Amino acid sequence: MKALVYGGPGLISWSDVPAPVIRHPSDAIVRVDTTTICGTDLHILKGDVPAVEPGRILGHEGVGTVTEVGSSVSNVNVGDRVIISCIKSCGHCANCRTGLYSHCLGEEGRSGIGWIFGHLIDGTQAEYVRVPYADNSLHALPESVTDEQGVMLSDILPTGFEIGVQAGHVTPGDVVAVIGAGPVGLAAIATAGLYGAATIVAIDLDEGRLNQAKDFGATNVVVSGAAGWREDVLALTDGAGVDVAIEAVGTPQTFTMAVGLVRPGGHVANVGVHGQPVSLNLAELWIQNITISMGLVNASTTPMLLKLVAQGKVPAGKFATHHFSFDQILGAYDTFSRASETKALKVIISRVSAT
Ligand SMILES: NC(=O)c1ccc[n+]([C@@H]2O[C@H](COP(=O)([O-])OP(=O)(O)OC[C@H]3O[C@@H](n4cnc5c(N)ncnc54)[C@H](O)[C@@H]3O)[C@@H](O)[C@H]2O)c1
Ligand SMILES: [Zn+2]
Ligand SMILES: [Zn+2]
Repeated sequence: MKALVYGGPGLISWSDVPAPVIRHPSDAIVRVDTTTICGTDLHILKGDVPAVEPGRILGHEGVGTVTEVGSSVSNVNVGDRVIISCIKSCGHCANCRTGLYSHCLGEEGRSGIGWIFGHLIDGTQAEYVRVPYADNSLHALPESVTDEQGVMLSDILPTGFEIGVQAGHVTPGDVVAVIGAGPVGLAAIATAGLYGAATIVAIDLDEGRLNQAKDFGATNVVVSGAAGWREDVLALTDGAGVDVAIEAVGTPQTFTMAVGLVRPGGHVANVGVHGQPVSLNLAELWIQNITISMGLVNASTTPMLLKLVAQGKVPAGKFATHHFSFDQILGAYDTFSRASETKALKVIISRVSAT
């Protein structure tokens, strides 16, 4: 089969590789019908994730069709259309039993880490993928949900919702600021209304992204490169600060921006993946009674979000901006890596060639 193979920093190729086979009774083999590229894949390409070894097939998002199941798989059958979760979960370890799938203790890939596709085992940017713990790591997709809607439920929608909106304790009437209007920040914007956010402020340096944010439910947008941006955000509150600030970039600067926007008693929800330490001014912050949260997505809300996508209550399809066939995947990487020029949000890569 063909797959997108990582060859070391800066190197990827669409190569011939052996097709995956069932290794454990709880595995399934899935023919990948639709996949996409995550910002994390670009981090890997830069060499920021050294655990990814040359020869690894990348990708942790996908929708496909089950072609083979191991002897202990009972929740999915050959022929089912499924969402492949970006997080493996065995479903019965101590962490899985509390919903902490991100730290699944199942041995596959590595015990204690849920994100293994395109990281510690071969991923979804391939014609076929082996899915460990298929009973819990796959979700059947109803006819009414398209592949390109479904693929947003592998990673970005649960991430923005769980690590942004839920961890930030959004409650009815809140003013919520989201720093970073990339796919993950937009996923938080698109789901903040589920908990009754009254004002959702998208904050980004890129005006194109802010225009896109309005389509996902942002009530206000603020360009953070402009002088007075913080005052513009505070003017949308009672003056004391926002109730919830969601950081969806992953830099010291944007984390500090989030902490500086929140009211006493408010919440800062860090979603961004950080590559360097960030300082926290506890001498000033201790008295503010704020709560700061962070974490890797569990993708435990994917089944619930899938229902809302099916009902048209979460605009999953709007994330898909560009379409490619598998043999054009290197072009998809190029388009996605130049998002500020190309206006790409999520690039859709499909088995059937785009027409
Ligand atoms: N916690 C998790 O489980 C998890 C899962 C998936 C992704 N992530 C992380 O979420 C973050 C966002 O992902 P994405 O795919 O949306 O990324 P992205 O790079 O597409 O979007 C980031 C956005 O931030 C904006 N930005 C950059 N610097 C800024 C600044 N100084 N002020 C305001 N805006 C700024 C960019 O213009 C861009 O629109 C990344 O760090 C990613 O690794 C976390
Ligand atoms: Zn991802
Ligand atoms: Zn587990």
